[in-house]
Amino acid sequence: MIEFIDVHKTLGNKKVLDGVSFNIEKGETFAIIGRSGAGKSVTLKHIVGLIAPDSGKILIDGTDISNADETFLATIRKKFGFLFQSSALLNSLSVGDNIGLPLREYQELSEPEIKKRIDEVLEIVGLKGTEDLMPSELSGGMKKRVSLARSIARYPDIILYDEPTTGVDPIMGNIINHLIINLRERLKITSVVVTHDMKSTFMVANRIALLYHGKIIRTSSVEDFKKSDDAFIKQFVQGTSQGPFEEEV
Ligand SMILES: Nc1ncnc2c1ncn2[C@@H]1O[C@H](COP(=O)(O)OP(=O)(O)OP(=O)(O)O)[C@@H](O)[C@H]1O
Ligand SMILES: [Mg+2]
Repeated sequence: MIEFIDVHKTLGNKKVLDGVSFNIEKGETFAIIGRSGAGKSVTLKHIVGLIAPDSGKILIDGTDISNADETFLATIRKKFGFLFQSSALLNSLSVGDNIGLPLREYQELSEPEIKKRIDEVLEIVGLKGTEDLMPSELSGGMKKRVSLARSIARYPDIILYDEPTTGVDPIMGNIINHLIINLRERLKITSVVVTHDMKSTFMVANRIALLYHGKIIRTSSVEDFKKSDDAFIKQFVQGTSQGPFEEEV
């Protein structure tokens, strides 16, 4: 469903992606892990065409989007929900209107249908009845869930999560992990989760890719990852300072 073939990208004077290749199957939850600055968010932005590669191919459902124009990208983006790293709610709009934004933008539903959809997705994320609250009245965990409700409002085929559990307490992290799992089961969604939270990765993912110096250096199933003897994998999972990862400040 999502395929990267030898994708390269330089931003500023840094080679951020240096030949990234992977293939994500329909219905799968694929986790991309790696240290801060490894290029995880940049990879996600390539998937929805917010960043274009310098070279290589990005296939979505078999269609190459690497050189697509804005009009075509707009149609491709309809398939996607994107949970951004920062929650990105508009402070001047209520919870309901924030969630309604993508629905009203695409004008596929009538106003009563939009209201119904806002209710539905708020219920999915466990925030039924909060549509009239303003973002300033929400905790960080609630904001994450409202953002999640907004990203699934159009019932996308694919959802991209950028650090879904970062910045929330462990219990809220757990709730969000369960939501990711439920969404996969309920909406048969294909998911890409970018994170450095290994507990979350092990809970939600089917497969894991480890990004380092602009390359995917390891890809494996969660089971194999957990029992791996590989030095990179062990160091990343255990978070120790000794190992093959270079010292970085
Ligand atoms: N628009 C840009 N212009 C220049 N450099 C950029 C741009 N976007 C990202 N970078 C650089 O690309 C590298 C990878 O950034 P990215 O945001 O993908 O990291 P990340 O793996 O998501 O890290 P984190 O875990 O901290 O979110 C960083 O060195 C960053 O400074
Ligand atoms: Mg990031």
